[in-house]
Amino acid sequence: MEKLQAAIEKARAQRQSTTPVQRTTVSRKSLPEASESLWSDLPPIEITPQLVKKSRLVSYGGGMDAGPYDMLRTRILQQANDNGWKRVALVSPHSACGKSTTAANLVFSFSRQSDLRTMILDLDLRRQGLAKILGQRVKHTMGDVLRGQIPFANHGCRYGDNVALGMNSSPVEHASEILQSHLAREVLDQIEADYSPDIMLFDMPPLMGADDNFGFLKNVDCALLVAEAERTTTDQVDIAERQLAELTNVMGIVLNKSHYTDGAYGYGYGYGYS
Ligand SMILES: Nc1ncnc2c1ncn2[C@@H]1O[C@H](COP(=O)(O)OP(=O)(O)OP(=O)(O)O)[C@@H](O)[C@H]1O
Ligand SMILES: [Mg+2]
Repeated sequence: MEKLQAAIEKARAQRQSTTPVQRTTVSRKSLPEASESLWSDLPPIEITPQLVKKSRLVSYGGGMDAGPYDMLRTRILQQANDNGWKRVALVSPHSACGKSTTAANLVFSFSRQSDLRTMILDLDLRRQGLAKILGQRVKHTMGDVLRGQIPFANHGCRYGDNVALGMNSSPVEHASEILQSHLAREVLDQIEADYSPDIMLFDMPPLMGADDNFGFLKNVDCALLVAEAERTTTDQVDIAERQLAELTNVMGIVLNKSHYTDGAYGYGYGYGYS
């Protein structure tokens, strides 16, 4: 872990020497009336009690169970605030590390942060990840939105009054080309301008196996690397971290599915963060 931490610090220093970062404060702004109504017009979603168990939505009800995700939320906000970052990509070296489950749980943790507006978008266009985990049927995909075929206002939904969600009804063809397109960048900029979220999280595909992240990460301020305890190797984390450092800032590493926490990196069961 010390080696990883040192590598992250080095990459961060390198990025900061080339990328001037404007410091901003993450805090909920009062929005123009048009933006307020865009938020309230998004249809609200509901979560069934059965789903909470099935999808491991331990953050749903708050309290002790939600502790690790609330801690992760707070660490994300601190890092974002300290560095002037708003767009955070959740990535992993390989599949099934737990990015989408983390994103789904962060929906509830961020909803409790009622002074902020958060946007969580599923940009793993090759899977139906977040919609499936949250038990939602949506008609379109974020691919349709990024291609400019469907306005986000006609696709997004909302949990509570302060978390906007963009999910996928099905896998999307040409995911990589869509994600790296100029149009996708423009659409995202427009969504951000219209909705003025305080923070945006993107559930991404794994780094291995496709070039989706490599084309898209130019559009984010930083990436949070989710590793799977007892499966992701140190080499895989090392390589992923170096690849990320060439593309964006590395916010940190989440050690998911960990049965062991040692106080230095652990914040309750299931998580470590460095
Ligand atoms: N903290 C956790 N403890 C136990 N199981 C978990 C945890 N987080 C995720 N899982 C399980 O791991 C599996 C993969 O999770 P998930 O789909 O969130 O990963 P992913 O990184 O989004 O995968 P992909 O790369 O395929 O999109 C799921 O069965 C999920 O329930
Ligand atoms: Mg996923």
